[in-house]
Amino acid sequence: MTNNQNNRILSGMRPTGKLHLGHYHGVLKNWVKLQHNYECFFFVADWHALTTDYENPSAIKQNTFDMVVDWLAVGIEPGSAKIFVQSAVPEHAELHLLLSMMTPLGWLERVPSYKDQQEKLQQKDLSTYGFLGYPLLQAADILLYKAGGVPVGEDQVAHIELTREVARRFNFLYGKEPEFIKKVEIAIKKMGKKNAKLYNASRKDYQEKGDQKALEVAQALLDSQQNISIGDKDRLFGFLEGANKIILPEPQALLTHAAKMPGLDGQKMSKSYNNAISLREDIDVMVKKVRTMPTDTARVRKTDVGDPDRCPVWQFHTVYSDDDTKNWVQDGCKNANIGCLQCKEPIIESITDELKTIQQRAAEYSSDKTSVLNIIKEGVLAARDVASETMEDVRDSMGLGD
Ligand code: TRP
Ligand code: SF4
Repeated sequence: MTNNQNNRILSGMRPTGKLHLGHYHGVLKNWVKLQHNYECFFFVADWHALTTDYENPSAIKQNTFDMVVDWLAVGIEPGSAKIFVQSAVPEHAELHLLLSMMTPLGWLERVPSYKDQQEKLQQKDLSTYGFLGYPLLQAADILLYKAGGVPVGEDQVAHIELTREVARRFNFLYGKEPEFIKKVEIAIKKMGKKNAKLYNASRKDYQEKGDQKALEVAQALLDSQQNISIGDKDRLFGFLEGANKIILPEPQALLTHAAKMPGLDGQKMSKSYNNAISLREDIDVMVKKVRTMPTDTARVRKTDVGDPDRCPVWQFHTVYSDDDTKNWVQDGCKNANIGCLQCKEPIIESITDELKTIQQRAAEYSSDKTSVLNIIKEGVLAARDVASETMEDVRDSMGLGD
């Protein structure tokens, strides 16, 4: 699932302030899982917020804080994952600038979200340089960490595809080292006779016959090599696919297949649709919201039979309920044995438990601002460590090193 060059995972979120159950079930639960198996970097994309909200930046700082508190409250552990803020790592801006030199304008104009968002957000003037460039800023975010995997939703896949194209073009233009082949030959020897033979044979099978399996065999072989330097590994990864050093490896999109958390009206949960339950929602307000949620419109009276497939409440059961409860809903709804309020009870109970735990932790973090700021500071330091190393490679390869 990663690009075989490392198992680092990176993802970012715009600072929209306090998060809701859609963020939790759709994104954050997945981050919490990933943090135990990968080296994870999660960041607040505050510069991205400016690409659409440049006229109104006053909320960004507080939103950033609130969002990080929610991340911590749902179980992102700073001991496992690094949490940082984009604007505190200026290398993002430098890489964005350098990539902008070699990125064809057409690639950005063709990103589907460019026209979509301009049409959707008509009240804002988005005919700006920054808005056109934001997918490239995202590419810089990812490539700066040489991330192997990027967990994103469906709507972001085109951005990962752009990132891959930009990386490929970058490596093609700047991966040409003097004496490349000579360095490759020396590096191959360092693997030992048996491995060298396997590497060469696999490369040949891939390049001559397009044998994808052979490529994977060679990549796994390189991954397992302990006694060759990172620079040599980059060369050997690059040599496998062409004749250039890979400076910026291509990331993979990790599509989140989490159960879709719908909003109270069955549409996607979103603050702007007014159908969300915030993670900090007052429990009484949440109960009221669920009780007044629309159900299958065919069930006017309790004696009318219904169909869970036409009811947003059922979507909540698919997220929260076990098989017994789900069977009880299906049977009770289709045979008019249960009322809709009754059907909502187990959901109210589950959300109450979930929110109480999250809110208790959020309250603790909110009241200890210093420790949250320190967590971010540490994340920034760790991020800059990686980022500055990448930038050295990038500058060198573009002829800018010292
Ligand atoms: N563009 C993403 C969004 O709107 C946020 C984002 C910015 C991001 N940089 C990223 C996501 C890098 C993944 C990786 O949701
Ligand atoms: Fe929806 Fe449940 Fe009512 Fe059926 S019984 S319509 S699933 S709320």
